[in-house]
Amino acid sequence: MKKIAVFASGSGSNFQAILDAQLDAEISLLVCDKPQAFCVERAKKAEVPTFVFQAKEYASKEAYELEILHALKEHGVELIVLAGYMRLIGTTLLQAFEGKIVNIHPSLLPAFPGKDAIGQALEAKVKVSGVTVHYVDAGMDTGPIIAQRAIELNEDETKESLQTKIHRIEHELYPKVIQGLLQ
Ligand code: GRF
Repeated sequence: MKKIAVFASGSGSNFQAILDAQLDAEISLLVCDKPQAFCVERAKKAEVPTFVFQAKEYASKEAYELEILHALKEHGVELIVLAGYMRLIGTTLLQAFEGKIVNIHPSLLPAFPGKDAIGQALEAKVKVSGVTVHYVDAGMDTGPIIAQRAIELNEDETKESLQTKIHRIEHELYPKVIQGLLQ
């Protein structure tokens, strides 16, 4: 079975959806840069090993990514799934896992990359936004697109209501796309 690492920084509801989907893969490691994040609790509950770190304790991105790389190798990880990981992936990981890192982003890329994509979409008053799963390259949400789903916005859409809609779609889409990548 293919071994997957999930990278997250927050609640980890997508991580949970991936766990619950029981893919033909082993979720071998959770990498998290926020020791207090709820995704760490989810990993413990599911008995998934964790690598938790704080970037400020390292001299550089390269320094912490070398440690992440070590943990990934130790666990035999073949595919990296970013699920709300709030850091740009650096050259160390990109070179070691070329074409083997995917991300999910809460907009129809290339629209609204970067932080607060949901807020950006509301600000722009778009009628349609959505979710994108894409390969990760050195840019901010710029890699080749694998799958997208559109979501219509209501007149009275709020950040919370759009967030809920987006999560619902993400939890269905991301496990499916990952399963497809395992073949
Ligand atoms: C998701 O909306 C994802 O698109 C974005 O970060 C959010 C993570 O949510 N990259 P969660 O931690 O999986 O609940």
